[in-house]
This record gives sequence, C-alpha cells and structure tokens, in this order.
Amino acid sequence: MIPSGAPSGRLAIFPGSFDPLTNGHVDLILRSAHLFERIVVAVLINAEKEPLFTTSERVEIIREVFHEYPNVEVDSFGGLLVEYARQRRASAIVRGLRAVSDFEYEFQMALMNRHLEPSLETVFMMPAEQYTFVSSRLIREVFKLGGEVRGLVPAPVETWMRRKHNELAVRG
Ligand code: PNS
Repeated sequence: MIPSGAPSGRLAIFPGSFDPLTNGHVDLILRSAHLFERIVVAVLINAEKEPLFTTSERVEIIREVFHEYPNVEVDSFGGLLVEYARQRRASAIVRGLRAVSDFEYEFQMALMNRHLEPSLETVFMMPAEQYTFVSSRLIREVFKLGGEVRGLVPAPVETWMRRKHNELAVRG
C-alpha cells in the first residue's frame, strides 16, 4: 500500500545545466520517459561566468527538441534540487552515468540529496555507448575552436549554436 502523503504519479526530475543539451542527454531523457509517467527536464538557474546560452534560451531549445513528447516537460529551477523536487511532488531524480569517472561526484550528490530528503530516490541510467564521451563542456570547447559537433547534439541545438556564434561575431 502507498503510504498517505506519498507522491501519486511517477514523476521524475532530470536536472542539469544543459549548456548545451547533447545527444547523450536526449538519449537519457527518452529512456526515462519510458520508465516514468512524466519527466521534468529541470534547467539549473546558475550564475556561471560565461555560459554559452542563458537559462531561458536553454529552456526554449529543450522545449523545441521535445515538443512531440507530451510526457516531457521543461522547466528551470534555482536553489536546492530537493526543494524543487518536493514542490513538484517528484518521486525520483534521474542522472546519467557515462563512465566510472562520473561515479564519485554522482554518488556524493545522490547521498547528500538523500540526506536532505530521504523519500526521494536517485535513479542512474547509462546512455547509449556512442555518447559516453560526449559532455556539454567538450561540446562548447570544440565548437568555440571551430570543430564539428554534428551528430553529438540535436539539430536545433546546432542551429542555435551557429546563431549564437554569429551574434557573438557581430558584437566582436
Ligand atoms: O549538468 P550538471 O551541471 O552536472 O548538473 C548538476 C546539478 C544541476 C544536478 C546540481 O548542481 C544541482 O542539483 N544543483 C542544485 C543545487 C543543489 O541542490 N545542490 C546540492 C546537490 S547535492
């Protein structure tokens, strides 16, 4: 029996910086959308010194990519993730594990989040092998230096990145 007060629907939060969204993220979000009734892709509102995209641009891009998936919602959040998850009555946080090197940080974060909110589970998922080397940080770096990112990010992200590149070039 479900204890009273427990979250009813199986809503999961997929939190991250998504600067930018990669095909690795897309792979994980689609896998999670099969497991949960609803997935909320939650973009962290942070004050990074030099983000490629603003928070609202990231939200807009991710909405564009998932517009055909009715159980994928895109939102932004600030402050503690567990607080946001509580507000959304989420039952789980989904995070991706690409390699052993991700594990330590993810393990610490999962246990800290459990310490803060024991009823919230963190679920780890592995992306398809072809995306295990893909990270937003490397995508930004490769793109800035003129490298090819096709196939590593969704087509709308590529378009937005080209637009951003032109904007920055005009501004000097
Ligand atoms: O894509 P990222 O940058 O790896 O995502 C990290 C994120 C957003 C999941 C993490 O920084 C986070 O949850 N930040 C919100 C603040 C918070 O709750 N911090 C305590 C985490 S243990």
